[in-house]
Amino acid sequence: EKGNYRHFMQKEIFEQPTVVAQTLASYIHRADNTVALPQVDFDLSTVKRITIVACGTSYYAGMVAKYWFETFARVPVDIDVASEFRYREPVLEEGGLALFISQSGETADTLAALRHCKAEGQTIGVVVNVPTSSMAREADLLLPTHAGPEIGVASTKAFTCQLAVLAALAAHLAVKKGRMDRAEEQEVVRHLLEAPAALNAALDFDDDIASMAHLIAPARDVLYLGRGPDYPLALEGALKLKEISYIHAEGYASGEMKHGPIALIDESVPVIVLAPSGPLFEKTVSNMQEVRARGGKIVLISDEEGLAEAGDGCLAMIAMPKVHPLIAPLVYAVPVQLLAYHVACAKGTDVDQPRNLAKSVTVE
Ligand code: F6R
Repeated sequence: EKGNYRHFMQKEIFEQPTVVAQTLASYIHRADNTVALPQVDFDLSTVKRITIVACGTSYYAGMVAKYWFETFARVPVDIDVASEFRYREPVLEEGGLALFISQSGETADTLAALRHCKAEGQTIGVVVNVPTSSMAREADLLLPTHAGPEIGVASTKAFTCQLAVLAALAAHLAVKKGRMDRAEEQEVVRHLLEAPAALNAALDFDDDIASMAHLIAPARDVLYLGRGPDYPLALEGALKLKEISYIHAEGYASGEMKHGPIALIDESVPVIVLAPSGPLFEKTVSNMQEVRARGGKIVLISDEEGLAEAGDGCLAMIAMPKVHPLIAPLVYAVPVQLLAYHVACAKGTDVDQPRNLAKSVTVE
């Protein structure tokens, strides 16, 4: 049921504060603000390497998680899209955790990669939204997201719930590895618990984002830039835009721009920059200057501080609440989802059922 919403995708975007809170509730002990993993009878302190495999939006959640696992737990992470992983003869060391991320739990390539890793003796972790799915059944460590059924073909709320689970897992692993003490774990948990309110605050900018859709809708190509854990969000923004509005879009690491894509920049290619203020901000500002110097039109997504510093001369600005860097990828998912959504509405495409796409990709 869509209720008061025009599309399932829109409804699911707006459900995120609730479902992220719901998901976090099952991974956090509220009594002492520590992480609690469900159904784990396996010793995470022995994990030496993590191999993440997923497709599409779930893969981008994995890319964000790589930053967290490496920063918090200092465990090396390999990550691949499932269709590549299967055929490249990956080296899987003993004591490895193979982690599969999937909304449906049925994606054929991801499932085949899971079975391969299982046969190779890896411990199988699964972050999945459908608890009765094939992947869920084959997991050693089952980490459900509690996003509820996702009907819109473009994944939205499953993504932010995956991020919530993965952040909790990273903190838990860090504790098990002796890399994080109790006080640090509680601090991470406190920041995670701030996510639902921050998501709500981000959703408050829906009208602003809707009113700038006409700036993007006529474009043939759009570039998304981000750095660090927000780089995968640039990829996610580009994927959302192309799949529902059919505008060609690419996500790039901000620093890679000058190694090629800058050749595309002119006044007809909007550049969406995801840049929360923080340690990486100045670097991104200089990339923005490179874009501007070539007549590029920038849509800057940042917090008040970032917009005040670098908003001058931008085509448009999208204000986000100022949040801890840990939850920025969850919060910045909202404006990229809403932008894609409103551009698609402006173009009159079928938002919930984009052409050529299926909700669950059960063929290779
Ligand atoms: C993008 C999208 C797809 C899926 C991908 C993986 O909006 O929905 O890219 O993310 O097909 O699907 P799951 O997560 O079900 O394995």
